[in-house]
Amino acid sequence: MKKSRWGILGAAGIARKQLIPALHASGQCELVAVASRDQARAEAYAQENGIPVAYGSYEQLLADPSIDIIYNPLPNHLHVEWTAKAVEAGKHVLCEKPLALSVEDVRKLIALRDKTGLLIGEAYAMFHQPRLESLKHHLEKKSFGTLESAHGSFYLTNTNPHDIRNAYAHGGGALWDIGVYPVTVGRWMFGEEPSEVSCAMDLDPRFGVDHHTTGILRFPSGGQMSFACGMRHPFHAAMTLYTESHRIEVGRAYFSDTASQYVFEVFDGAQPPAVKTYSFAPVNQYQLECEHFADSVADGRPFIGSLEQTLANTKVILALFKAADSGRFEKV
Ligand SMILES: NC(=O)c1ccc[n+]([C@@H]2O[C@H](COP(=O)([O-])OP(=O)(O)OC[C@H]3O[C@@H](n4cnc5c(N)ncnc54)[C@H](OP(=O)(O)O)[C@@H]3O)[C@@H](O)[C@H]2O)c1
Repeated sequence: MKKSRWGILGAAGIARKQLIPALHASGQCELVAVASRDQARAEAYAQENGIPVAYGSYEQLLADPSIDIIYNPLPNHLHVEWTAKAVEAGKHVLCEKPLALSVEDVRKLIALRDKTGLLIGEAYAMFHQPRLESLKHHLEKKSFGTLESAHGSFYLTNTNPHDIRNAYAHGGGALWDIGVYPVTVGRWMFGEEPSEVSCAMDLDPRFGVDHHTTGILRFPSGGQMSFACGMRHPFHAAMTLYTESHRIEVGRAYFSDTASQYVFEVFDGAQPPAVKTYSFAPVNQYQLECEHFADSVADGRPFIGSLEQTLANTKVILALFKAADSGRFEKV
């Protein structure tokens, strides 16, 4: 099979840490070029990361006819603009989360995708994790009973005033950056969209972004979930799910482990130990994400990070912001 040829917009940290090693490791993908707003930065980044071509503008990258797929890890407020420009230049686009900050923008991209036939996907790497795929499958089969409740958390420490996550104008803040993970995994595991949400949110007085946010989602079937996220806290990322008879613990839920086995554990009503531990082989979820996207481009198979999933998620996140303002439950 012909390898898909990738180009990256911006000398981004996430690309250096995750996507570039993943693309280099994949036999299906070839990383061809990177573009920066600055030619010298592009060249240094290309050299450090083994990328053959360095462009000094994003426009030059999009004009390269040898590239099939653009990876867009720009700051959140530039995702839609540069995804649209890339599609208009004839490229498929895998764009970092959150792909859009408004429902209108997602609808605009859906129209562009449908007009051009090009693929636009949102890069939630945990969607490609065999552990969460397996858990989803078990919940659909009701292997442990019916999912009724869940709690997801994602905390980290980020007080860097220059980080895009602390810039309101760049779509920063804890909810857009990390709260989106438990919300997305929860919606996926429940298999339905919440009808209403409530939210408590504290803003950082220095930056104007939310740095501590807790929310509740109520699902039409009667299920409920809560989530919490914070950017001034020790790292923690986990999901706990409850059926009428079991509790399921997923540690480091939004990450896979490339070095050792990773698990989810099932407990019954009694005290630990777990009644069953499901173990999974080491895997790089970013590599699987790139390969699944390349497969979808090649043969049209569905990509789980679709724009329809983005649309549903964006509606929930915006309803959470509205509920934080109103202090009431808000319809999604
Ligand atoms: N999926 C994941 O696991 C994951 C993890 C971390 C981050 N992310 C997402 O990836 C995206 C980038 O995050 P990051 O941590 O990699 O950010 P970053 O290191 O700050 O990289 C963003 C890049 O965007 C370019 N850029 C263009 N206009 C900019 C502006 N006005 N201000 C700042 N940078 C600008 C810069 O490249 P040039 O100057 O070279 O043009 C910069 O290197 C975000 O959407 C974030 O949510 C995803």
